[in-house]
Amino acid sequence: MEEGFRLFPVQASTFAVKVDQLYWFLIGVTVFFGGLIAILVIGFAIRYRRRPGHVAEQPGHGVESTLLELFWTAVPLVLVIVMFVWASKLFLDQSIPPIGAEEVYAVGKQWMWKIQHPNGRREINELHVPVGRPVKVTLSSQDVIHSFFIPAFRIKQDAVPGRYTTMWFEPTKPGEYHLFCAEYCGTDHSHMIGRVVVMEDVDYQNWLGGYTAETPVEAGQKLFVEYDCASCHESGRRQRCPMLGGLYGTEILLNNGQHVLFDEAYIREKLLYPNAKIPAGFPPIMPTFRGQLTEEQIIALIAYIKSLSPNPKISERKQQ
Ligand code: CUA
Repeated sequence: MEEGFRLFPVQASTFAVKVDQLYWFLIGVTVFFGGLIAILVIGFAIRYRRRPGHVAEQPGHGVESTLLELFWTAVPLVLVIVMFVWASKLFLDQSIPPIGAEEVYAVGKQWMWKIQHPNGRREINELHVPVGRPVKVTLSSQDVIHSFFIPAFRIKQDAVPGRYTTMWFEPTKPGEYHLFCAEYCGTDHSHMIGRVVVMEDVDYQNWLGGYTAETPVEAGQKLFVEYDCASCHESGRRQRCPMLGGLYGTEILLNNGQHVLFDEAYIREKLLYPNAKIPAGFPPIMPTFRGQLTEEQIIALIAYIKSLSPNPKISERKQQ
């Protein structure tokens, strides 16, 4: 972890350098114009101060110059366009996780981060990731809004109750970095801190492997059986609801004629508010599981339903 006081956190992800460059550009422009204006204000105040024997100039005899007007309109315009395009590019890069990224789930709750890896390994207030590979974090919250902030990676994303948000990063340096909650979330907000451990790939595989917990897909499958989801969602005589295999990542038709993407958010909504969006041709008979499933169980069920899709990677591309 970083020692002592430093003006900037270490740069430990592929975004870090890019974000800092933009930051320095903004600082540069601001300091230059701020300084210029301050110097002119002070300079003119001294030069044109009231002095005995000097008659004050009457206002209203200023110079009029179209060229000058154009100049000081065009320069700021160009500067803000540069800022806008540059920042938007960075924002978009940060918003769209690359295909094939490592997937991690993080659930915020007062006042801790609960992390789950695809092989079932869980951790609290710690996130282990491999160096040099993109990692996608899917965030949700069990109670209030939290925010997942890793300064050394220059990324921050809110974890919002009732929906999924994603963030991604690619660590460039092995080491330990701060993980903060960056959204005021109650009494112990300031203690909602943790660490991100970036490991060499071999170490990461060792850390991840040798761990024989239930994977989210297995846990989801169990829940699927436990809640007897198959009683409606299986083929054959009993089928009254859509078959779930291969649905993930596709667009489905609703009974109001609209289309909706069958993604994590949709499955989640279906589990909690089953009558919000009903697929065309099916009766509104799904019960709600609100209050019965924890965030982690919902994630597990989604992972299981996702695994029924023949090609999850292609589905993911569509989702973006
Ligand atoms: Cu969680 Cu602040």
